[in-house]
Amino acid sequence: MSTADLFDELPVTVSRETLAPGAVLLRGFAREEGAALQQAIADVTRQLPFRHLVTPGGYTMSVAMSNCGALGWVSDRSGYRYDALDPLSGRPWPAMPAILRKLAVRAAVPAGFAHFEPDACLVNRYEPGARLSLHQDRDEQDFSAPIVSVSLGLPAVFLFGTPSRKDRPQRHRLQHGDVVVWGGPARLAFHGVAPLADGEHALLGRQRINLTFRRAR
Ligand code: SIN
Ligand code: FE2
Repeated sequence: MSTADLFDELPVTVSRETLAPGAVLLRGFAREEGAALQQAIADVTRQLPFRHLVTPGGYTMSVAMSNCGALGWVSDRSGYRYDALDPLSGRPWPAMPAILRKLAVRAAVPAGFAHFEPDACLVNRYEPGARLSLHQDRDEQDFSAPIVSVSLGLPAVFLFGTPSRKDRPQRHRLQHGDVVVWGGPARLAFHGVAPLADGEHALLGRQRINLTFRRAR
């Protein structure tokens, strides 16, 4: 299948913008599935309620997190890592719902990653004021797989830079249903989220939910 064919398969309401070599923004890619995705996320967070993790430096994160999939991302005083078990309960993470996994696999294709197999999905919840400072996703074993990031609920300003911390990031407004995929030369790009503005979203209320799919091992 050529790139043109894949592009033709995008729903008509989806546009593809290049943020940087290796990074694309698929506006509206997940919009039509929003309610079904919300159901799947609720199933996950019923099993593993959102919690505010502590950074290795001792700060409590303003973003609340949950996980699903074989591996979960964890932060505590000893560092950042992926673990097959929740260190708090000693139990495996909730399974990754098929609707979530399929969305990530499908979104990776028009970004140029035809065989993405995520084994970790971090669920981030932003309430008004919550932010995520600039960072690289580098706790994964192999950087050949992309990051697939799905935005639901309130709009946010996504900061997206380069693999060098010195470069000032660009600001992109992400709305409900937008998906960003970055990999290849952009895989280690610095990124973050500006403090969430208050608001009320028709489906999700006063919050933004972000799903970050990764191949951790
Ligand atoms: C992340 O970098 O883990 C989350 C990014 C986002 O919330 O858009
Ligand atoms: Fe990240």
